Amino acid sequence: MAELRLTPEEEAMLRGEEGPGVQKAMEIVVALGRIYGAADLVPVASVQIAGVSYKNLGDAGLEFLREWAKQGAHARVPTMLNPMGMEADRWQEMGIAPDFARPQLEVVRAFTQMGAIPTLSCTPYLLAYAPRRGDHLAWAESSAVIFANSVLGARSNREGGPSALAAAIVGRTARYGLHLDANRRGTHWVEVRAPVRDVPDFGALGYLVGKAISAGVPYFPDLAAQLPPLPTDVTLGGEAGDRLKTMGAAMAAYGNIALYHLAGYTPEARDAGADLAPPPDAPRLVIDSLEAAYAVMDRDTDVTRIDLVSIGCPHASYHELAQIADYLDGKRVKAQLWVTTARLTRERAAAAGIVQRIEAAGGYVVADTCTVVAPIQSLGVRTMATNAAKTACYAPSHSRVAVRYGSLERCLEAALTGEWK
Ligand code: F3S
Repeated sequence: MAELRLTPEEEAMLRGEEGPGVQKAMEIVVALGRIYGAADLVPVASVQIAGVSYKNLGDAGLEFLREWAKQGAHARVPTMLNPMGMEADRWQEMGIAPDFARPQLEVVRAFTQMGAIPTLSCTPYLLAYAPRRGDHLAWAESSAVIFANSVLGARSNREGGPSALAAAIVGRTARYGLHLDANRRGTHWVEVRAPVRDVPDFGALGYLVGKAISAGVPYFPDLAAQLPPLPTDVTLGGEAGDRLKTMGAAMAAYGNIALYHLAGYTPEARDAGADLAPPPDAPRLVIDSLEAAYAVMDRDTDVTRIDLVSIGCPHASYHELAQIADYLDGKRVKAQLWVTTARLTRERAAAAGIVQRIEAAGGYVVADTCTVVAPIQSLGVRTMATNAAKTACYAPSHSRVAVRYGSLERCLEAALTGEWK
């Protein structure tokens, strides 16, 4: 295996010449580089850190961050944060207890002291920080990594919490895995013969592919025919972007997939053509029906009364917020409705009056958090409806709620009537 080469500047960081915080970060990046056989480090355009909720970090995680911040560590590239466990300024209104809110705010303070931008969103690609094709990134949120790699043609491995923060502090990551051309070629053919019509169908497809392939690079020769064209401004979401963000999130949640290609559609598969396709004798998965996925994700079929409807996993796009506002105009919800989104997306939608229309119907457009990382159990929620495959995956175990899974319209009807019909 080749020795990991460091530049003189990187060597100096490793020797501690820029202080103990930078030294610790460089030790982590170098250790990962050696474990994975990287030849060198590569500068990253941005970093995204997951593991921001106090619900997951606890006191030990908070102490670890404070310690690193005290050592003078500071991000040298734009560094964004995943959602935390509550909304920054409306946590009291949400019913969050102060003994959760205080340490949660401390966690964000420790990150921002180190230079992180409190985007508090799992959709950094919908914000002002959308990566460009070919950018190397050190992102941690699995649904964001797969979107950046597949739909935008950027390059990121799925980083862990400490390794992403380390990459931010040194501005580099080890060049291995999906940073290398050789690892971006398709490994499995996935032929989709079932109709895939809407967001939950794409989530169901992501579930089936994630379960069947687990790790690898799925290559879809024919799925593009079931998608509208990708918009030029992906930061708005849109029919295609919203479906792909859900499908990728499901593949990453139910499997360990961080990149896929749609022949003739996603940027690398469009340009590299057959060069990116798997070898003809590679494993082949044929999807004839989505039923098996619905049977798992919409498993609590005896549940009809819905406490909370959760939309926005990954965080809702501007396009999704507009769809919801259109549906709810002139109506009033009976169940709680949370539409979780990035603060910046909410601001953009509020400027167009979209947020106000959802909230006039009794819905709640929630920033900074989501129903998986917020302590919704302590808010008395026992049953949930969602159109998001990743929420259907995690909510039963993380939040111990029963879940119904279906289309946006069905979820919004459940919000209006309090019933899953
Ligand atoms: Fe994002 Fe929460 Fe889903 S972090 S991807 S909305 S589980």
